Amino acid sequence: MAPTNLIIAPLFLLTLFSLVRVQEGVEDSGKYPIVVSTWPFLEAVRAAWEAVDKGFNAVDAVVEGCSACEELRCDGTVGPGGSPDENGETTIDALLMNGATMEVGAVASMRYVKDGIKAARLVMQHTKHTMLVGERASIFAISMGLSGPTNLSSSESMEKWTRWKENNCQPNFRKNVVPVGSCGPYQPKDNLGHNKGICSEASSIGTIESRTCLVGPHSHDTISMAVIDKMGHVAVGTSTNGATFKISGRVGDGPIAGSAAYADDEVGACGATGDGDIMMRFLPCYQVVESMRQGMEPELAAKDAISRIARKFPDFMGAVVAINKDGVHAGACHGWTFQYSVRSPDMDDVKVFTVLP
Ligand SMILES: *[C@@H]1O[C@H](CO)[C@@H](O)[C@H](O)[C@H]1NC(C)=O
Repeated sequence: MAPTNLIIAPLFLLTLFSLVRVQEGVEDSGKYPIVVSTWPFLEAVRAAWEAVDKGFNAVDAVVEGCSACEELRCDGTVGPGGSPDENGETTIDALLMNGATMEVGAVASMRYVKDGIKAARLVMQHTKHTMLVGERASIFAISMGLSGPTNLSSSESMEKWTRWKENNCQPNFRKNVVPVGSCGPYQPKDNLGHNKGICSEASSIGTIESRTCLVGPHSHDTISMAVIDKMGHVAVGTSTNGATFKISGRVGDGPIAGSAAYADDEVGACGATGDGDIMMRFLPCYQVVESMRQGMEPELAAKDAISRIARKFPDFMGAVVAINKDGVHAGACHGWTFQYSVRSPDMDDVKVFTVLP
């Protein structure tokens, strides 16, 4: 016993000492806190910065930031009042991830409740689950104190939807169905191929359909935010009302851990935005964080994750932003010009970075 203790005690002290030194290094470096977000969602980044700068932890700062975007209805694609589905309804997808504990909470296709990121936090902190969906997610969120049921439609979303209905529900996300060019009801088309919709006719590449008619710069602007707090803990969150004219029940990349966001205290974080139906097949943010874990710089990790998707789907539109534990950040994109926002201690206000494809 005694000899073992003699060996362990100094080791223990040494470990304690080095932990303290690491913490001091964090405080002294001036790198933290730091907030990074997809798009120029300045008010959201300011809200997260204010929270984390006055000592909130990364998880709560992410909630403050994403909530600000939900309240402001950033670009009409976050929070209530945007992106009507085929039935004209607005639903919410959101995710929260704690990079210290790898806990995740998410809601998908949530109806009648506008507070996506707060619902995600309730799932993370008050259940042993990771994701709740649809109306059951709404019932849970309301039972845990969020307001609702709320009508998530706005006059803008209803007008948009009415115009789309008048245009025979074109464009839409159906494929290989009959009848073509109508609002349905649809049936599967047995004979696949030779049934190109309006969108795919323009620029189809082999069997991969062009989605640019549906997925434009203003149909999919997920907020995906990463925060590193003063203690060096990392958290990420996302919030979106999804793709406009989506089929009811569709869940995008937003609430999928590793797709629209991922965080690990040991490495850093990633946020993604774009054509979620395609991107969620590649878990780009998991890829970015794992590449950085292997030693890749954020810029290369971001470019690599995007190019993996582009090789299979040359028409896809999307972007990722990566940040490592040194506070180094970079973005990469495909099919559109991407912007992300950063607030760190060396800046007077939020700074917007532009990334070309
Ligand atoms: C929800 O709000 C929209 C827009 O104001 C309105 O057109 C719609 O009728 C409302 N739906 C219900 C069920 O009240």
